[in-house]
This record gives sequence, structure tokens and C-alpha cells, in this order.
Amino acid sequence: MLKNLCMTAKIIDGKLLANKVKEKVSIAVSELGKESIFPGLATIIVGKDAASSIYVKNKGKSANEVGIKSFQYALPENVSEEDLLELIKNLNKDNAVDGILVQLPLPKHIDSDLVIDSIDPSKDVDGFNILNAGSLFIDRDGVIPCTPLGCLLMLRSINVDLKGKHAVIIGRSNIVGKPMAQLLLKENCTITVVHSKTKNIKNIVKEGDIIIAAAGIPNLVTYSWIKKDAIAIDVGINRLKIEGKNKLVGDIKFDEAKEITSYITPVPGGVGPMTIACLLMNTVFQCAKRNNIAEPSSLKELL
Ligand code: GUN
Repeated sequence: MLKNLCMTAKIIDGKLLANKVKEKVSIAVSELGKESIFPGLATIIVGKDAASSIYVKNKGKSANEVGIKSFQYALPENVSEEDLLELIKNLNKDNAVDGILVQLPLPKHIDSDLVIDSIDPSKDVDGFNILNAGSLFIDRDGVIPCTPLGCLLMLRSINVDLKGKHAVIIGRSNIVGKPMAQLLLKENCTITVVHSKTKNIKNIVKEGDIIIAAAGIPNLVTYSWIKKDAIAIDVGINRLKIEGKNKLVGDIKFDEAKEITSYITPVPGGVGPMTIACLLMNTVFQCAKRNNIAEPSSLKELL
């Protein structure tokens, strides 16, 4: 009994899991290389947002690490929508490019929906366009967005039966909250999505056996919001200045949450690396599918 009181959560190590996924992707890329097939990933960033620039650089670097050819396009903040669409049109036609990623958010003068939907669905490595988003909604094959896919793989990695668990998702974005709800519904979880207009948000979160925090609000979820032994997946990557030092914190107050949860993901080193690993996975096993690449069986088990 006493022992239970002192227990802290097990950490789900996103870096370790991401490295395992990357290893599998790397092997697949090597096999393809023998047949002179070289998967390619094009990333596009518009403007100079510091955080987005770091994310995109890391995506390109990780692609290179596993042998995926990375094509990086950094466009000025004032690029016209027309020029951006023209670039995507050319990448759609380019056989060296299997996946196309446009980093979001885009500047206000550009219609993001139009841009996302201009990507060939078979190259939509983020799974954001209307066809892939719809496919997920009605259980058809398609590209699954990287961050929710990474969260699912982290949940799978701890071998907990997800069936019937109540998952509370904080945030309703197209990038995380909505696709996450669909994925966990497929896992037979019961889903609640809470958001900025939800009343009694704390009490609802406290009912969750699984909490997926994707609100973008630093340290939103504290000890009193969490059911004992819940599993906490923290999608938040928030930059704070604490005592003059830059620090990355999640949406969940880690030091408090680890005292009440059974499993928790850290920030950094949790969902972030898994998002990138899933991007590489999508590039090779989904978008480059036209090259008839077989997924290694152990990766299938993970999924
Ligand atoms: N902005 C924040 N997360 C993402 C992501 O997963 N993909 C893209 N393209 N933009 C993002």
C-alpha cells in the first residue's frame, strides 16, 4: 500500500521508440537503394518563424539520416499564393519526390486549405488534405497525420489494452485533436474531445484513463486534473523563459503529473521525436508505396 503511494509514472521514451522506427525505415530505404529507388521528401516553409524553422530543419536532417533524399524549400514571408501553388504543382509531377510537406501555419494572405488540397493525395505525407482526412474518418486506407500516429505508437508500445478506455483529448485541431479522436475510436476507446469553450474542462479531463494534451497551453494540466494511474501523452511543445533560461515545457505539468499517472511522455523527448519518425515512415511506407515497398512485419505489429 505504502509502496503504491510512492510510485511515480513510467516514462514513455519517445526518442528510443523513434530510433527503433527510424532503424526500420532506414533498412527499407537501403533495400530500395539496391533497386535504384530513392525515396524523396520535399519540405516547404514560408517565412521565418523560429520554431517552425527548427522543426523543418530537423525533419530534413532526420530524412537524410535514414537515407531519404530531402528537398528543402524556404520561401519568403511575402511569397504569393500563386507561386506556392506553382511550386507544389511541380513537386506533384516530380518523380524524385514521394512526399510533400508544407509546414503550418502559413501566413494569413495564403489560403491554407487551398494549398493543402493542391498536394497530390498520394504525396500528402502529413495526411492533411481532404481525401486523406476523409479516409481516416470513414476507416479507409490513407495517410495518417504524423503526430497522432506517433501518439498511437507510444500507446501501443506500453502494451496496455486500449479497448473501452476513456480517452480525453484536449484540443480539436485538424493536425492533432480530430485525427487523434478517429484513431483512438478505431482502437475501441471511448472518446471525449475538450477545447477552449468546454465547460468544467478539469472535471472532464479527470475522467480520462488516457489524456492526450494538445492545447498548446504550457502546464495546463496539473495534478488535480488527473485520474490516478491515467496514461498521459503530452503533445505540447511550449517555449518558456524560466529564470532567464529558455525551457521547453509541455501542456502537462510533468513534475506533478508523474506522481499520479501510470505512464507519461516527457517534453522534450516524447511526442516530438515520434512525430518526425512517423513522417519518415509515411514517406517510405505510404507515399513511396507506388514503388511496392513492403512494410517490415515488426513495423506492422507496431501499427
Ligand atoms: N505544424 C505543426 N505541426 C505540423 C505538422 O505535423 N505538419 C505540418 N506540415 N505543419 C505542422
